Amino acid sequence: MSATPQAVLTKRLHAALVACGLPPERGEVTAAADTRFGDYQANAAMVLAKEAKTNPRELAARIAGYFEAGDICLKPEIAGPGFLNFRLKPPWVSGQLRALADEARCGVSATKNPLRIIIDFSSPNIAKPMHVGHIRSTILGHALARIARFAGHEVVTDNHLGDWGTQFGKVLHGWKHLLDRDALERNPIAEMTRLYREVNALEQTDPAVHKAAREELVKLQQGDPENRAIWEQLVDLSWAEFAGIYEKLGVDFDERLGESFYHPALAPLVDQLLAAGTAQISEGAACIFFPDIPALTEKPCLIRKSDGGFLYATTDLATIEYRIERWDPQAIWYVAGAPQQLHFQQVFAAARRMGVGTQLEHVAFGSILGEDHKLMKTRSGDNVPLRDLMDEAVSRARAMIEAKNPELPAEEKEHIARVVGLGAVKYAELSQHRMSDYVFSWSKMLSLQGNTAPYLQNAYVRVRSIFRKLGSELGSVQEVVLTEPAELALAKKLLRFGEIVPLVLQDFRPNLLANHLFETANAFHTFYEACPVLKSGGVTEHSRLVLCAATARVLKQGLDLLGVQVPERM
Ligand code: ARG
Repeated sequence: MSATPQAVLTKRLHAALVACGLPPERGEVTAAADTRFGDYQANAAMVLAKEAKTNPRELAARIAGYFEAGDICLKPEIAGPGFLNFRLKPPWVSGQLRALADEARCGVSATKNPLRIIIDFSSPNIAKPMHVGHIRSTILGHALARIARFAGHEVVTDNHLGDWGTQFGKVLHGWKHLLDRDALERNPIAEMTRLYREVNALEQTDPAVHKAAREELVKLQQGDPENRAIWEQLVDLSWAEFAGIYEKLGVDFDERLGESFYHPALAPLVDQLLAAGTAQISEGAACIFFPDIPALTEKPCLIRKSDGGFLYATTDLATIEYRIERWDPQAIWYVAGAPQQLHFQQVFAAARRMGVGTQLEHVAFGSILGEDHKLMKTRSGDNVPLRDLMDEAVSRARAMIEAKNPELPAEEKEHIARVVGLGAVKYAELSQHRMSDYVFSWSKMLSLQGNTAPYLQNAYVRVRSIFRKLGSELGSVQEVVLTEPAELALAKKLLRFGEIVPLVLQDFRPNLLANHLFETANAFHTFYEACPVLKSGGVTEHSRLVLCAATARVLKQGLDLLGVQVPERM
């Protein structure tokens, strides 16, 4: 695997710093903010001059003097208050591109520190519809799992189904008193949701219903055979619905250990924590207090209510114990919405008190908004069910393909509609910073222009059509000579792929990869406008074909890491 430009420059900068008698670890090289001044930059001179109270520009000049540019880049330029700017030399870029074209991993090296990571994501709740609110966790978690695996980590994905919550008291009560069997046949999730909603509404006005629902829950938890059998039906019916959604999205899991799996472990866990003094009884409830954590001093982690019931946090603590016992992971990532921030802070703090050393991360995300900029996820029940949403994505994409390319065979059109429609929904999620709320807009996400899946898929399709016209694939890679600015700009983007992919995992930001792919596609289009490929002849034509082939590979690989497929035509 040849090193990325950033890695090569960093190594040389370190050598220059050492030669100047300076500490090398300050020599961070980043992509230039403005490519007019260079391709990469370093602020080492500014940082070090500040510490030593010397002139940063003079120090920059001294470092530049020791910098071995060789055939990689021009002599570093000193800019502004003491930036070092590096401009790559075209022959080196050409050589690196040639190497990249032969690399199976598109320039992404495997991590030097492979971890065993458990990713807890999607985790919808049984007997409730899986709605757009869950789509973020599913898409984000799936992409992170793919990227972590590609980076060389060992990943276990676990769908921590909400199959043991208070909703079961309500649904069980509804099942026994309000069930419409025909409706259940026709649309099980809708009927279960109706039961849940009706009982929920009745509870608001009738305390007897509240009490009855509560009793059904307790009976279930104590193993009552009738309630247990109904519960099993609820789980099966819900899972059948979820499985259909996962299949459409191409998402799967290594494990599906729902909350119910941990139920037997809860009572012993609480007893053990009380006995060890980790938890205390306060007003009849068992709690873990955090007097030493300012944000949590007033917010203990409740693990058993005064009525004996266990909580969401109790299950999460039992889950952590089980995961450590079974997999001994170095990290557990929880992909769940930002409103659960406090919950995870408490659970992680409690786990620390239990002596857990595993790295625990809450990968939080914001909300999806409707076109009216209001929450698409509401508690009132008018959620858009996920299945309808995906069907709509596919049918809108179908209409788009029909308009764009009506001659394609029907079967291929159907395939493209799925790849484009579902890809658009996934990409709309992944191209956003996970913490920002975003507006779910069909017209935007399915547009062939802008930072969308169809735009990137279309760029891939364009490249493929060049090879179809050529009548063959690239074949063996020969000498590459890039001279045109548009050729060089595209090549440099392609070489950065290996720099971007590892960055995604630093702060769980697939949007960095999405945006990089968008820039790559833009660079490709600029190149394609400026530089004729076929019939340019000789080494120019070969070099341009190498650029095209590398573009297709990087786009395909990058989208694949995001869980988005590419069609060959569209
Ligand atoms: N079922 C929960 C929900 O829908 C998400 C579970 C997240 N994972 C966890 N281990 N707590 O909100």
